[in-house]
Amino acid sequence: MPTARPPSVRLIHGDARHLDPIASGSVHLVVTSPPYPMIPQWDALFARLGATDYDAMHAVLADAWRECHRVLVPGGILAINIGDALRAGPHGFQLWPNHAETLVRAAAAGFVPLPYVLWKKPFNKPNAFLGSGFLPPNAYVTLDCEFILPFRKGRLRRLPPHDPARTESRFSRAERDRWFSQVWDDVRGAPQRSARGGRSGAFPPAIPERLVRMFSLVGDTVLDPFAGTGTTVWAAAALGRSAIGVEWDDATYRELTRSSRSGGPSPPEDARDARAPPRSPGGGSAGPRD
Ligand SMILES: C[S@@+](CC[C@H](N)C(=O)[O-])C[C@H]1O[C@@H](n2cnc3c(N)ncnc32)[C@H](O)[C@@H]1O
Repeated sequence: MPTARPPSVRLIHGDARHLDPIASGSVHLVVTSPPYPMIPQWDALFARLGATDYDAMHAVLADAWRECHRVLVPGGILAINIGDALRAGPHGFQLWPNHAETLVRAAAAGFVPLPYVLWKKPFNKPNAFLGSGFLPPNAYVTLDCEFILPFRKGRLRRLPPHDPARTESRFSRAERDRWFSQVWDDVRGAPQRSARGGRSGAFPPAIPERLVRMFSLVGDTVLDPFAGTGTTVWAAAALGRSAIGVEWDDATYRELTRSSRSGGPSPPEDARDARAPPRSPGGGSAGPRD
């Protein structure tokens, strides 16, 4: 029998570091993309959170990973989308390896790191690079991949045999083969529009859609503690999961509640087929994220 419980959406104007309104062990999956340390777009926000250098920015995020660990069920999954940064340091431009720092900090928060995905965005300008024309040796390799880092809380999640929600949530062989490969090169970035003015940092619906279907069951609860425009929340709800979104910035939260009243900014691409027989995933929205 299909699972009958209708999904609910809960939006919280709060801080990912203090998820007090969310009960311990009540969330099955976290899908999120935090503000990226050392990306200028997020400097002012990190400063408002008291963080002005790389370590302090990752300390802010680490507090959020600890809270995610608390609210997840045993065996629940945390999936973090993050990109590295290239920015001046004491000796000139250098890599700020946000993905590596996040792996270390989330593991320190108690999570088991799992194999990760390289999200290689189809690039409008494949030859774009930072450097000096065609002369070696001082050019930089282009940062055209982001990371999707999955973690588990403890051991594998245990489910009753023949759980109908699990059967209802199955994916196809084609989906499995594409989604569980280490490089995703078929998802374009999302168009950007922020309530604060400038870019929102939104990911395309295809990213949370895939992660929700890969790592949760119909009827589960999915959390995004850095909700932004709510892409995860709308994707999860459309796929028959209950969704919780937490957003700290006042203007972004106001925009999020407005889009909630209109049913979300746009339906996720795969939502139509959430309960239909599995099919191949669609690509992301048009327009680059970066
Ligand atoms: C990269 S954006 C998330 C974008 C989102 N995935 C989407 O598709 O719209 C990060 C969001 O986290 C929010 N944020 C930053 N610090 C926060 C905190 N401590 N608690 C909750 N939200 C926070 C920012 O205001 C921003 O909206």
